Amino acid sequence: MKTKVILLGPPGCGKGTQAEIMCDRLGFRKLSTGDMLREAVRNGTELGKEAKKYMDAGKLVPNDIIIGMMSEKIRELGEVPLLLDGFPRTIEQADALATVMDVDVAVNLDVSDAELVDRLTKRRSCPKCNSVYHLTNKPPAKKGVCDRCQSELYQRDDDTEATVKNRLKVYRESTLPLIDYYGKMGKLVTIEGVGTIDGIYAKIEKALKN
Ligand code: AP5
Repeated sequence: MKTKVILLGPPGCGKGTQAEIMCDRLGFRKLSTGDMLREAVRNGTELGKEAKKYMDAGKLVPNDIIIGMMSEKIRELGEVPLLLDGFPRTIEQADALATVMDVDVAVNLDVSDAELVDRLTKRRSCPKCNSVYHLTNKPPAKKGVCDRCQSELYQRDDDTEATVKNRLKVYRESTLPLIDYYGKMGKLVTIEGVGTIDGIYAKIEKALKN
């Protein structure tokens, strides 16, 4: 089984949703740059204050900040089955990643823009355990409350329609080239990201076991 995995794909394609299931069922440790940055914002750290300016505008946080943060964490974790959600997001980040981890597979979730806008503007997130819900596609059992840890759900500041459209533009400009990057290395698996969450997970699991 492949144990060094990155999840690629546009905002809202389901990276966080699938990462949660992969950790539960396959024993992966997950590093999510988005979750780490949002925690820094909530804690009011210097990193959080700097990152918030970019995140609220739907822009990428500068490479040097992200690369420093992730390289240190990856080194700390060592030889565990590791899943990266939201990193790398630029060629420069991918080159830096290659110096600290050998990627076994890059799983790319493919979803249309119209579907992405609907998913993100109706997403609700847990501030404590980072579980992800959707008002109609994946509602929590009790309205507004996380199934997993019972915290009150919230809407992310960058999930407004205007910011989502900018995030999609930034994705196309800066992150899409990674599809070619990992494709040329023979490490890319593209999976249709539309359908049931369990159905998509089953395809990912199969790709990891191939
Ligand atoms: P980040 O938190 O990584 O956001 P993102 O990549 O934009 O991805 P999302 O978390 O929005 O979506 P997702 O693919 O995880 O989808 P989800 O599973 O939640 O980054 C946020 C910001 O941080 C960036 O804009 C940037 O500023 C900064 N940042 C982060 N990493 C960085 C980096 N490496 N470099 C520089 N800056 C960085 O699902 C979305 C919704 O769809 C949910 O409501 C879910 O319930 C629903 N859903 C999921 N699957 C399905 C399905 N199959 N059918 C129907 N609905 C579904």
